[in-house]
Amino acid sequence: MAKMKRAFALLLALASVTWASYWMDDINHQGIAPFNPLKNYQVFRNVKTWGAMGDGVTDDTAAINAAIADGNRCGGPSCGGSTTSPAVVYFPPGTYLITSPIIGFYYTQIIGDPTDMPVIKASGNFPTGALALLDSNPYMNTGELNFQATNVFYRQVRNMVFDTTAVRGRATGIHWPSSQATLIQNCVFRLSSHPDDTHSGIFMEEGSGGMMADLVFHGGKYGARFGNQQYTMRNLTFYGSDTAIDQIWNWGWTYKSLKIVGSRVGINMSSSDVGSITLLDSSFVNVTTALITGRNPGNTTGLGSLVIQNVEYKDVPTVLAAADGTPLLLGAADGTVYDTGYARGNTYAPRGPYLIEGRELAFSQPQTLKLGDRYYERSKPQYQEYPASSFLSARDHHAVGDGVTDDTDALSTLLHTAANSSQIVFLDAGYYKVTDTVFIPPNTRVVGEALASVIMGVGQKFSDPSNPRPVVQVGRRGDVGFVELSDLIVSTQGATAGAVMIEYNLNTPAAENTCSQGVPPSGLWDVHVRVGGFKGSQLQAADCPTTPIESNYANPACVAGYMSMHITPTARNLYMENNWIWVADHDIDDWNSTQISVFVGRGLLVEGSRIWLVGSSVEHHTLYQYQLLNASDVWMGQIQTETPYYQPNPPAPYPGTQLNMALEDPDFAADCRPDAPNRPLSLEGDPPCAMAWGLRILDSKNVVVFGAGLYSFFNNYSTSCSTTKSGENCQARIFWVGQDTQGADKMTVELYNLNTIGSVSMITQGAVDLATWDQNRATFASTLAVFRSQAQV
Ligand SMILES: *[C@@H]1O[C@H](CO)[C@@H](O)[C@H](O)[C@H]1NC(C)=O
Ligand SMILES: *[C@@H]1O[C@H](CO)[C@@H](O)[C@H](O)[C@H]1NC(C)=O
Ligand SMILES: *[C@@H]1O[C@H](CO)[C@@H](O)[C@H](O)[C@H]1NC(C)=O
Ligand SMILES: *[C@@H]1O[C@H](CO)[C@@H](O)[C@H](O)[C@H]1NC(C)=O
Ligand SMILES: *[C@@H]1O[C@H](CO)[C@@H](O)[C@H](O)[C@H]1NC(C)=O
Ligand SMILES: *[C@@H]1O[C@H](CO)[C@@H](O)[C@H](O)[C@H]1NC(C)=O
Ligand SMILES: *[C@@H]1O[C@H](CO)[C@@H](O)[C@H](O)[C@H]1NC(C)=O
Ligand SMILES: *[C@@H]1O[C@H](CO)[C@@H](O)[C@H](O)[C@H]1NC(C)=O
Repeated sequence: MAKMKRAFALLLALASVTWASYWMDDINHQGIAPFNPLKNYQVFRNVKTWGAMGDGVTDDTAAINAAIADGNRCGGPSCGGSTTSPAVVYFPPGTYLITSPIIGFYYTQIIGDPTDMPVIKASGNFPTGALALLDSNPYMNTGELNFQATNVFYRQVRNMVFDTTAVRGRATGIHWPSSQATLIQNCVFRLSSHPDDTHSGIFMEEGSGGMMADLVFHGGKYGARFGNQQYTMRNLTFYGSDTAIDQIWNWGWTYKSLKIVGSRVGINMSSSDVGSITLLDSSFVNVTTALITGRNPGNTTGLGSLVIQNVEYKDVPTVLAAADGTPLLLGAADGTVYDTGYARGNTYAPRGPYLIEGRELAFSQPQTLKLGDRYYERSKPQYQEYPASSFLSARDHHAVGDGVTDDTDALSTLLHTAANSSQIVFLDAGYYKVTDTVFIPPNTRVVGEALASVIMGVGQKFSDPSNPRPVVQVGRRGDVGFVELSDLIVSTQGATAGAVMIEYNLNTPAAENTCSQGVPPSGLWDVHVRVGGFKGSQLQAADCPTTPIESNYANPACVAGYMSMHITPTARNLYMENNWIWVADHDIDDWNSTQISVFVGRGLLVEGSRIWLVGSSVEHHTLYQYQLLNASDVWMGQIQTETPYYQPNPPAPYPGTQLNMALEDPDFAADCRPDAPNRPLSLEGDPPCAMAWGLRILDSKNVVVFGAGLYSFFNNYSTSCSTTKSGENCQARIFWVGQDTQGADKMTVELYNLNTIGSVSMITQGAVDLATWDQNRATFASTLAVFRSQAQV
């Protein structure tokens, strides 16, 4: 293989001028993986360099799989995870014929040329027993997935066409058991609709995701079959799939901007393992039955909760049917029916539970968050309209990215140069160690590589929790301008108790109310925070072992952050999509995924206005995961949180004993006192009180949450508090809505499809438990359909 590779490398060098068109192919490939033991480890791989022809005739299977596997990467039964062998596997335009599956490895980005999308075409003799054309996580002989689905992070598939039409019988485009920081974007699936064939675009049966966007499905018995804890899916279009979406199971799911045309069934959510679906800004055209539910009228559990907002049905005889076919909601066989708002499930508005099965609820739908009649949305820029010369490579500008050299000055200079020249910064894969704040000036665009471009704060300047300091600062308070950042990770190394991983201050002058003119909102796509649990972090299994025995102990060497992300009061018009803010609960590079104890005080604090959080997750911070403080016009759609596994050993706020009242840190000492006034009922019995909040909203206006999964699985590393169904006893409370202290302006918070695990109370307002888990039993999670805060007191 090595010889062949060299030969093709030569060919590529000669031919590159004519082949290349997309900047990602044209650009110098200088990305590195500094913690990989191979000195010449290659991050970027053009499949043609490994011999793929893309001519629609040659069998390219072996060449593609070699391009993926080269360099002793993480795949096969001997590897369950790794951060040291990231790769971009790039496909130039062409039709790549395959005769057996392409096998996905850990930390792999499969990216095609978006200007002329490559086609992966299964040959007529593709084995029908094979799970998928792209099997991102094959089943091993043991019957288990190669990678535990809930630990599959940091991978993407973009700009690819999957064509199964030549296969008779069973065929699937992508097998995708996946979790946080994963993405399938801008892909097309061409599937057989022959009645003898069972084709499906995507099959996903497990995981804790995740994001998909901008997908088009043609035909198939199923457009897609989805099962996962939670997901956010935006801009999916189905043409002529018999069943567009088969919802295998979930706790919560957010579908935005779906379009389903010419199907027998739109979404089949009839399985009793479906917790909830939130569907908005969508349309069904020529569909016999738009939705099938397993939840029968009068059912007062949380199962199969359904919330619909702004959906149009054209030539749809039945909008909603029971599993046995009984119509529950009619459409018009020949005409259009429009739903402003519809809900089916338990309602707290603010008191409950009341069963709602219909349209009687007015949804607030803040116009300030919309473009026209839909909530604003914006796909990740891939810059296909720019030549390679528009990009400034970090490595060409004296940044080293080897995880050792101090790159603070190099990055700062580069970012200023780029902002001054309107060029786009290409942060080649690498670990950019910085010893002071990296400032991202207004009017800057930065794109990373392989989800392996890591800005890593280290040292003295980030060590003082009484003087917190940003690792990456986007604009200064009061700055006006825009940014576009994508495919980046912000991180730390070692003890950095004063680090704020991302501070976002920018006010983007996007057109107000409609976003239709002038500059769009700024955007952060696939920008993640990762603290600990990876090679180079000095916060791994050997450094930060779990400490189940000694109470109230936190190893100071493992206190690694003050706050993961701060969107400050001056921030305005920010669109975020697919962001995972993670304090590691386990070591990804450890063979056994060993659990670790790493401490960061605060998760994501939002104080700004006009903020969209589309598909986000914040996990394992000590005080809270999300906190909204005097924020306004905030759209959150499928948010997901986890309480730290170590709590209550030590309990919150430990080790962050110094509270910052200017940031309204929760005061556990006061709240959890046995003689606290108006002590809520959820504190009776033994559920621990001093536990991180999943979501805390104070003094905020026009907050709409479309899907939330707030989970607490562990106490002191044991799941017995969440797995025994005698009670959800891991913590007393998880979601708090604060009273209005601002006077005139009343708080307005609406939350659709709240799914919680391990918490006695699902919603606490002031000292009142508005909803408890046992009122809303559903799947493994408890689910309620609608919550509206006490807006008009
Ligand atoms: C939706 O996806 C299609 C196909 O990728 C794309 O052309 C379109 O611009 C996307 N629309 C939005 C609103 O993102
Ligand atoms: C409606 O969808 C069915 C099934 O895909 C298709 O056969 C039919 O032609 C469509 N009708 C119209 C009017 O498009
Ligand atoms: C809906 O899905 C279930 C499997 O969960 C299947 O048994 C049923 O036939 C489907 N309903 C329709 C109308 O296709
Ligand atoms: C509610 O629906 C679920 C799922 O279909 C079913 O398992 C359960 O028995 C029903 N409960 C009641 C009280 O009707
Ligand atoms: C960028 O422009 C500003 C203001 O015009 C100037 O002060 C600064 O030196 C420039 N920086 C670089 C790196 O070119
Ligand atoms: C935590 O769990 C361990 C067992 O894994 C136990 O020995 C220890 O006492 C527990 N600590 C606390 C504070 O509950
Ligand atoms: C993984 O854990 C098992 C059981 O604790 C242990 O026997 C094995 O040595 C560990 N493997 C590695 C590579 O650490
Ligand atoms: C809350 O935000 C508003 C602007 O939306 C501002 O006028 C007010 O001063 C803020 N209040 C506090 C206490 O910061």
